[in-house]
Amino acid sequence: MDHLEHNRRQWDRYVARGQRFTRPVEDRQLRRLLAGLQQDGWLRDELQGRRVLCLAAGGGKHGILYALAGAEVTVVDLSGEMLALDRQLAARHRLVIRTVQTSMEDLSMFPPASFQVVVQPVSTCYVPRVQRVFEQVARVLEPGGLYVSQHKQPAALQASSRPGPQGYVLRVPYDHRGPLPEDEPGLHREAGTREYLHTWEALLGGMCRAGFVIEDLQEPRHGRPGAEPGSFAHRSRYLPPFVRVKARRRTGPQPAASGGGTLLQP
Ligand SMILES: C[S@@+](CC[C@H](N)C(=O)[O-])C[C@H]1O[C@@H](n2cnc3c(N)ncnc32)[C@H](O)[C@@H]1O
Repeated sequence: MDHLEHNRRQWDRYVARGQRFTRPVEDRQLRRLLAGLQQDGWLRDELQGRRVLCLAAGGGKHGILYALAGAEVTVVDLSGEMLALDRQLAARHRLVIRTVQTSMEDLSMFPPASFQVVVQPVSTCYVPRVQRVFEQVARVLEPGGLYVSQHKQPAALQASSRPGPQGYVLRVPYDHRGPLPEDEPGLHREAGTREYLHTWEALLGGMCRAGFVIEDLQEPRHGRPGAEPGSFAHRSRYLPPFVRVKARRRTGPQPAASGGGTLLQP
């Protein structure tokens, strides 16, 4: 079974089990998220009346949020069950949201420059070749359009879930190819899915090579002083789990495709 079929089944199963990312937002949480969006310097002025693609973002959160913020929303996800949650919630809020079931690696159903903004929650870890995703996003985003994406940091996927006598240790090499080995349960992995490590070059270099300019970068804070060793909040103090990237589609000529640079040794 390939990564798509494997992960689609797993996310469908997650919905049946009510896993944490598959719980549609409740009204109070939605109000809080909406207030947070008004404070978000990257997105708050980019949504009203814009065509927004929420990529790999099913589950009844992102689509509703951006529609309430005034955007014309399309949600793409691999899992039909995740998208069903978006449709249910949209109906409850009397919002119009388009849902499309496909992989982030294949957005060929959308004409070029279909969207003005693409937002992507943490999800590139579910595909082996992240470059394909960036190329697809570049094609469907209009020149000058905004791409805000979150990714799992490579070190957070390399390291052990729980601290031993040496603290958190690197268990997986940086150049690991193929699905990551199963890990002990922890909030930095989704058990049962096939996940892949993407290096910084693949993430940031990949976006630049696909035709984006990176404007800013954040490491969302999940660490908490005094957190219990082994908890997500404890591990996150040592290993920031995610990176959030603000990138803009170039307006001028696109860079020639290249496989990346070679580091010159001093
Ligand atoms: C962490 S969830 C993101 C949305 C979630 N509701 C949240 O609250 O953040 C990751 C999503 O990626 C989707 N996904 C996994 N592989 C995908 C692929 N190849 N193409 C599109 N979506 C994919 C999953 O079905 C899941 O809905």
